[in-house]
Formats: sequence, structure tokens, C-alpha cells
Amino acid sequence: MQRVMARPQATDPVGSRLRSYPALKTMQEIPDALCFLNGTFGPLRDAKVSVLDRGFLFGDGIYEVVPVYGRRLFRFDEHLARLSRNLAKVRVLNPFDRAHWLEHCRQLIAAQPAPDQLLYIQITRGVAMRDHVMLPDLTPTVFIMTNPMKPPSAQQREHGVACITASDFRWERGDIKSISLLGNVLARQLSADQGATETILFRDGLLTEASSSNVWLVHQGGVVGVPKSEQVLEGIRYELIRELCEALGIGYTLRPITKADVSDADELMLSSATKEVLPVTQVDGKAVGHGALRGKPGPVYARLYEAYQRAKERQSI
Ligand SMILES: Cc1ncc(COP(=O)(O)O)c(C=O)c1O
Repeated sequence: MQRVMARPQATDPVGSRLRSYPALKTMQEIPDALCFLNGTFGPLRDAKVSVLDRGFLFGDGIYEVVPVYGRRLFRFDEHLARLSRNLAKVRVLNPFDRAHWLEHCRQLIAAQPAPDQLLYIQITRGVAMRDHVMLPDLTPTVFIMTNPMKPPSAQQREHGVACITASDFRWERGDIKSISLLGNVLARQLSADQGATETILFRDGLLTEASSSNVWLVHQGGVVGVPKSEQVLEGIRYELIRELCEALGIGYTLRPITKADVSDADELMLSSATKEVLPVTQVDGKAVGHGALRGKPGPVYARLYEAYQRAKERQSI
């Protein structure tokens, strides 16, 4: 693991990380919310998989996270398409058609008291005696749960968040939404240790993404992101941000981004299912932006966030 490039002089301007779920100290503290495991619905607390599951032994599986607003799935088809693409990349057959995925997800969503949720789908290659080779004819393990959404706080939206930078020491297939997230976990912890919200990653001097978000900058009024590649997860918000920019008449470009580009950006933003679009106002302890807007969320962020809220209404099923 390589060291963090620079130590921030100050932590998150609002002194907060993204709101997280509480630590669970005993099995009894696991919520008894309904979950789906291999065709059966039951309490999350009681759901069990074999220790020989290849997800447990190898991290041999993929996942998907879909935001749910007012009990409706946001951009469900885009999430399902990415799930299918990822299954194909790791050579696991898609166990369900769209109608069945939707039916299972909706059953869980209906049973969860909170209307805004984060739905999690995980598929592993299945259970087998430990062997690196992909044995044929395994039955994939399919798990779905949905939890209350923990969106960024109003303070984080108003003031923006702090990030740190680090070298991207993860594997070279960031495009696969793999459950093997140790690299991302280590990367995220670097910022958590410093009271910051995300770790922005650079490989060979070029921006890739953050530990669990895509990164966008604003330059000369237009939004700039990094090209889609095997080193970056194509977040569902890639296309959404492109559509929102088009509707708002804001430029949208994908091109390699250097560390100097990030330092010199007029605005900086993160995007993910939970963060939607979130302004970054400090990187490595230095305020983002120029002039009167230095260290403050910018106008492009404000317009995108507003348009995003309208898209949630229109594009949830
Ligand atoms: C590494 C990484 N990049 C980008 C994203 C953003 O993807 P999405 O917009 O689909 O949530 C995520 C989401 O968790 C992620 O883990």
C-alpha cells in the first residue's frame, strides 16, 4: 500500500463523515428486516450462508446498490443492466429476468418501514470446495436486502465535504463491481482516519475515482469527468449527470484529469447512489475553487443537485 500523498491540514469543514449505520455488537442487534436469500424471504438476523460460499472464501461475486425514494427504485433498469454486464464479466449466469428481480426487490421495499432506502443485491458464484478454478454448474448465491437510506446531512450539502488524495493501489479492474472491496476499504479508511469524507484516487498521476464515488470537476462552467475504462467503476450517475448537463445546457466532457486539474478546479463533486451529487470544498486541507466561491459549493453543483431531485421524481418506478 502506498502512502497518502499529502496530509490534510484541516478535516471536514462540517466535522462530519457521511452518516453511517451503527456498529452491531451482537447478532441480536442485526435488524430483523426482511431479506431475500436464495429464493426465500426471511429476517436478516437469521439469514445464513455456507462458509464454503466462494463469496466468503474468495470475494468471488458482484453486487449492486440501488437507491429507493418513496418506495420507488431510481434508475432501476440502468442498475439491472450494470448487474447483467458485471455478471457476464465474471462469468456467472444471471439468475433472474427483469420481472423476477423487480418482484423480489419490491417485496423487500414494501416490508421496510423507511420510504427512502438503499437496496443491496449480491450474487456470488456459489458454494464449492475451495479451488480457484471456476467449477461449472454452481448455483449462484443470491442475496438482497434493503436498509434505510443515510443521505448526506443538510450541513454537508450546504458547506460541502473534505476529501484527501491517495495513490490508487487497488486492482486494475475497477470497472467490475466486485464484492472484493479490500482495496476500497483501505482507501476509504485513509480519509476516515483524518475525519474526511472520501479518498480521491490517482493512478500514474491521473484521477481514477474515489473509494466509493465517482469524481467530477467543473472547469470553465462545464462538468469534466474521467473517461470510462477498466480502472473506474462506471457509476449509474455517469449517464445521469450527462443527461442532466444536456438538459441544463451545461458542458459535459470526459477526458484524463491530472492532479493539477483537480487543484485548479472551479468546483469539485462526488457522485454515488447515496451521495447523489455532493460538493467537495476541501482537498488535502486546501479550499477548492477561486475567488468569492473558494471553499464553498458552487453554482454548477447547485443546478445539478436541483435537477437531480426532479429526476428522482420522474425516473423512479
Ligand atoms: C468505487 C466506486 N466508484 C463509483 C461509485 C459510484 O457508482 P454509483 O453512481 O452507481 O453509485 C461507487 C458506488 O458505490 C463505487 O463504489
